[in-house]
Amino acid sequence: MIIAVDGPTASGKGTIARALAAHFGLPHLDTGLLYRAVGRQCLLNGGDPENPADALAACQFSETLLDDPELRSEATGGLASKASRHPAVRRALHDRQRAFATQPGGAVLDGRDIGTVIAPDADVKLFITASVEARARRRFLEMQEQGRDVSLAEITADLAERDKRDREREEAPLRAAEDAVRLDTSSLSRDEAIAAAISAVKEKG
Ligand code: C5P
Repeated sequence: MIIAVDGPTASGKGTIARALAAHFGLPHLDTGLLYRAVGRQCLLNGGDPENPADALAACQFSETLLDDPELRSEATGGLASKASRHPAVRRALHDRQRAFATQPGGAVLDGRDIGTVIAPDADVKLFITASVEARARRRFLEMQEQGRDVSLAEITADLAERDKRDREREEAPLRAAEDAVRLDTSSLSRDEAIAAAISAVKEKG
């Protein structure tokens, strides 16, 4: 069974994808981490993620970079979003994601274009949304827990900017697949959101 989980930043898609993987005993790939690694590697190379050649060169990141805690920062999310606009970058990461999705036994992948581009044949597609306010609040609490010094206003502005870039890009923009089940987590607790996702998978899968 292939489960595709897409949605904007801090919608709860990562938490839901991990919980689904544990519940159904499937391997999980957070595809955002790959784009984050490209953004971070670009910075380490002294490159500009807006520049297609610099962003493509950064696709040659080492596997150990995926464990770098800095990948989780908002700043790296912004770099990832800039690098991910380039079709060549998306192509460079495509086969790795596709291979993960089609491994025997199935998989759960979360990202922006899993149900539309990477695994349009997924058995279940979930599109997770939440209001900007709810998402900014979650991200703010997460960052505070990690001891990062950020303001709610700053996070709200960053999220809105990243959403706009991800939705408006030409290549694989963030959008729900036609056959995706939509789940709005704005007023759901973590456990409620997970329970709703599990029932949706059981119904569809
Ligand atoms: O999901 P996450 O916030 O970690 O993703 C970081 C950035 O990577 C997103 O803002 C988006 O631009 C890009 N991304 C993408 N396609 C994916 C996953 C992430 O373009 N499948």
